[in-house]
Amino acid sequence: YDYDLLVIGSANADLVIGVERRPGAGETVLGSDLAVHPGGKGANQAVAAARLGARTALLARVGDDAYGRLLLDSQRAAGVDTVGVLVGGAPTGVALITVDPSGDNSIVVSPGANGKLTPEDVRAAGSLFHASRVVSTQLEIPLETVVEAVRNLAPGSRFVLNPSPPRPLPPEVLAACDPLIVNEHEAKVVLGDALVGDDPADWARILLARGPRSVVVTLGAEGALVASADGVARVPSVKVEAIDTTGAGDAFTAALAWRLGQGDALPEAAAYAARVGAAAVTKAGAQESYPTPEEVDAL
Ligand code: RIB
Ligand code: NA
Repeated sequence: YDYDLLVIGSANADLVIGVERRPGAGETVLGSDLAVHPGGKGANQAVAAARLGARTALLARVGDDAYGRLLLDSQRAAGVDTVGVLVGGAPTGVALITVDPSGDNSIVVSPGANGKLTPEDVRAAGSLFHASRVVSTQLEIPLETVVEAVRNLAPGSRFVLNPSPPRPLPPEVLAACDPLIVNEHEAKVVLGDALVGDDPADWARILLARGPRSVVVTLGAEGALVASADGVARVPSVKVEAIDTTGAGDAFTAALAWRLGQGDALPEAAAYAARVGAAAVTKAGAQESYPTPEEVDAL
């Protein structure tokens, strides 16, 4: 394989304002100075993996504009192969983000060019699929594009999905996931009417019965649960002081996908990914906050 990881997904300019508290409907609050960071769940995953040392390619679409150039620069600086980053068709995606004093964020995404990443773009990138050990996606691109990615997987390559923002998933996509990675909110949306009780271990089991070969439920400060044919196991969290949680989940997913491709068992890969995600919350922004292997080892 030429690439350890192929990420298919969104690239956004993150427009970030710190707030004491979020405004309610009809309310105006004053916030901090505006910060503009390269973001988007796909672009974030690619940078996180490359910074850890993974040979990484990104399939995405940005606009022919200043934000698109910001995103391409960030990918290249991290060492991501951007041969699959398409330019034009719509303005670059934008995420409006507020971050509160506890480091928690709220995000509204305008998909822009991400919404124009089509199944045809996936088919045209067939050589990237054949060159990649693991393929990872999220849901800030059209669902039919994710479905086409599943159909284009090379024999023997592994598919990882974080369904964010969540929506119900077709059986064909669920069956390809190894793993499906969800937080509590995403688990509830994917499970829909099948949601039973409030024990995340039960959710993991029910999700697994829907077809994925493995499932990871992330639980924030409570760590994560991993579920596969081997059963359900808990992975502890790593305690850090949260500055900005934006993109920490993307770093977790990227690290997990990469380590699985390198042959780690699911619990080991998830434990490593938890340390990568923890490192990411200790700094502002998404991509700028992602750790090197040395920084992960120092945790
Ligand atoms: O997961 C964090 C990301 O979500 C941000 O970078 C923002 O662009 C949105 O896509
Ligand atoms: Na961060």
